[in-house]
Amino acid sequence: MCGIVGYAGRNQAASILVDSLKRLEYRGYDSAGISLFNGELATHKTVGKIADLEAIIPDDLDACIGIGHTRWATHGKPETRNSHPHVSGNVSVVHNGIIENYMMLKEELIEKGYEFKSDTDTEVIAHLLHQKMYASDKSIDLLTSMRETIECLEGSYAIAALCTDESEKIIFARKDSPLVIGVGEDGNYAASDVTALLKYTKDILYINDNETGTVSPDEIRVFGQDGNLIKKDIETVEWDIEAAEKAGYDHFMLKEIHEQPTSIQNTFAGKLLELEGNIKLDELYLSKEQIKYLRRATIIACGTSWNAGILGKYLFEKLAGIHTDIETASEFRYGNPVLCGEELTIAITQSGETADTLAAVRSSMSYGCKTIAITNVVGSTIARECDSVLYTRAGPEIGVAATKTFTAQLITLYMLAIHLGRSRNFISPDDAKKLIIGLKKLPGQVQKILNRKETIKECADIFADRRDYFFIGRYLNYPVALESALKLKEISYIHAEGYAAGELKHGPLALLTKDTPVVAIATKGHTYDKILSNIKEVKARDATVIAVADEDDTEIEKYADVVLRIPSSHELIAPVLSSVTLQLLAYYTALARDCSIDKPRNLAKSVTVE
Ligand code: M6R
Repeated sequence: MCGIVGYAGRNQAASILVDSLKRLEYRGYDSAGISLFNGELATHKTVGKIADLEAIIPDDLDACIGIGHTRWATHGKPETRNSHPHVSGNVSVVHNGIIENYMMLKEELIEKGYEFKSDTDTEVIAHLLHQKMYASDKSIDLLTSMRETIECLEGSYAIAALCTDESEKIIFARKDSPLVIGVGEDGNYAASDVTALLKYTKDILYINDNETGTVSPDEIRVFGQDGNLIKKDIETVEWDIEAAEKAGYDHFMLKEIHEQPTSIQNTFAGKLLELEGNIKLDELYLSKEQIKYLRRATIIACGTSWNAGILGKYLFEKLAGIHTDIETASEFRYGNPVLCGEELTIAITQSGETADTLAAVRSSMSYGCKTIAITNVVGSTIARECDSVLYTRAGPEIGVAATKTFTAQLITLYMLAIHLGRSRNFISPDDAKKLIIGLKKLPGQVQKILNRKETIKECADIFADRRDYFFIGRYLNYPVALESALKLKEISYIHAEGYAAGELKHGPLALLTKDTPVVAIATKGHTYDKILSNIKEVKARDATVIAVADEDDTEIEKYADVVLRIPSSHELIAPVLSSVTLQLLAYYTALARDCSIDKPRNLAKSVTVE
């Protein structure tokens, strides 16, 4: 997730762009840049925050039109050369989104003589715009070039572009990434969201997918996919700046839960080869031979990432036949691991900076193990130190409680397990295809859960005053139980335990009373009958059962007191849907208890100390 801005007007563009970018920093903050037209193209960019960019912009830069960008790296490390804008000749571009087919486009452009200066997917857009305007036999304007360029792109984008030959306007395009246009008195604006523009205007045009257009000082033109001019109504927003950063949500956590249809899509964008029944993981530096003879994998992580790792263990064993251990990083580093060089270590860490995880991975490296990092932060320490990195591409997460980064970790683990399983011929292309189809359905299914969130809120409100909560699940639903308990205790301060449902009878049943809500994750699958038996054990102790169940399950109501429904899905994939449901349960419980949801007491987003 990145932020883009543009301004065409009668005031100094540099200060407006910098100020607007500061408001978008929550969308990404590892590097930034601007391009302005002051007789020629003046581009300034740097690694770091917007304040670092501000420091390098000359005071005497006299320009009234420009574009800007704040970056959250997805392709290429946070380095100045990977920062936006990307320039091709006299064309400059900023982009938010992911171009899935950029490798193929890059090869074609290199053959045509274009030289790439960055590792980003975005640079192909700059060269395509330039090539279509200047290097083909016809002469076209920037808007036409933009239309022809987006025809070549697969993926998501909000783009703003400048060209010195049409220096009075900015050209924009949008598909699957947000873009708004601000209507001002001294000029007009483009931005990833209204937050960036509130200081200048509250009059907004919302751009839809497949629309393109131009922003000039006195005119805004929007065109549909068919090239026809569209008349858009101006909408006046009433938000203050803080509300706008949260896109109108009360908390970042709720916003981030709602971003999951998009973040999940971004995690698997360009990687699911449905027809071949395979996963494209070019970032994995493991040869076919190494994968074939892999004997053991060890997953190392902390907190939520560790919970994701348990699901990873089950998946690697089920789909790839690889014996997998899951280790808590803080324990592993002081244990006596028995590892050898042909083994694989997988470190899962959202931040890429967790001290315990880094230390544990370094220890496993000392045995000669191959290492893979699964992280959300491009260029983080773990990403720099491991042999391969799989980025989860969930975008920045501000709430301390991990939500969208957890589901992104799960999606990455599904993809890695399928990839390893196919490379070892452990699963058939058909079985892989079924899983891929299941993954592709997830964004729509998660949206369905979000649309029904009121039911989850009602349930949360009923039990918000309880002292203890239990979460139980079997097999793949066991890590969901652990993660959901962690989420609830972290933000609502209710004591919550996640348990393997079969373990209840070995002790914890003694704690259950009529006042203890027990959430049973009871999705269809080969342990379904077993969890029904566990629910009966719970009911026999008079505790209240909240079941998470498939929408087509007609049995469950006979057993549970409250049922939270999720769309029916592939058995292995249902944990993603149950997790989103229980993130909302935790959120609404904390809301009812008036807790500090985004910054829970005693916790930090990134734990860089032991
Ligand atoms: O950045 P990491 O994934 O390595 O962080 C690990 C834990 O600190 C983290 O998951 C923590 O448990 C979260 N606050 C959970 O919501």
